[in-house]
Amino acid sequence: TQEKKLTEKRVVITAGPTVEAIDPVRYISNHSSGKMAFALAKAAKKAGAEVEIVSGPVNLADPAGVTVNHVTSAAQMFEQVKLAVKNCDIFIGCAAVADYTPVKVSCQKIKKNDEQMTLELKRNPDILAWVAEQEDRPFVVGFAAESQSLKEFATKKLHKKKLDMICANDISCEGLGFNSDDNQLLLLDKKGNEELLDVASKEVLACKIINQIVARI
Ligand code: PMT
Repeated sequence: TQEKKLTEKRVVITAGPTVEAIDPVRYISNHSSGKMAFALAKAAKKAGAEVEIVSGPVNLADPAGVTVNHVTSAAQMFEQVKLAVKNCDIFIGCAAVADYTPVKVSCQKIKKNDEQMTLELKRNPDILAWVAEQEDRPFVVGFAAESQSLKEFATKKLHKKKLDMICANDISCEGLGFNSDDNQLLLLDKKGNEELLDVASKEVLACKIINQIVARI
């Protein structure tokens, strides 16, 4: 049995992809399955925490004893996170939030023709950075999905978004990262500590991440 290290702590975790509608048929999204985030939720629950997930569309069963708020778009995820983070002790941004969304969502299916088409996109709000900016903020953990310069880019995100800790995954490695059962993570914290969590199942890694958070709060 795992020690109850997070009793009386509230943990909020974002999960999965977001889906940004173009028209009633098409959308922009990514390959996140939610497995990493749901494993974190289970590990936090096992450690005694009260856990809430804000999740984009995933094909996973809601973990027992965890509140799951299902959303679709980044805008909806942001609104739900704003409510969820009140009185929260630990926030983990594990979702692959779409960075851009269409400027205009067409109510009707867009008809094709023989011309090229251009889709105009605008930036979505950065949910993780917003949480880290709040006064009286929780302990904030981000993820970084990188296909190159893992440590350099993750370190930049850690500082730019004012995070306490970041878990970086190299998504160029076959069988790791998006939609896989296993992962490998480089943990970096704001004090300059780093730790490599070698290839393991997302469940095993989730427990290790929770232990690393416990050691820092
Ligand atoms: O879901 P799985 O299939 O199990 O895959 C796991 C994962 C690869 C999705 C996960 O381990 C992961 O890396 N999640 C973050 C993916 C990502 O979008 O990274 P990013 O480098 O684009 O974003 C950096 C951080 O900012 C992330 O914590 C992200 O949640 C957050 N963010 C980004 C953009 C935005 N608009 N709002 C955010 O909160």
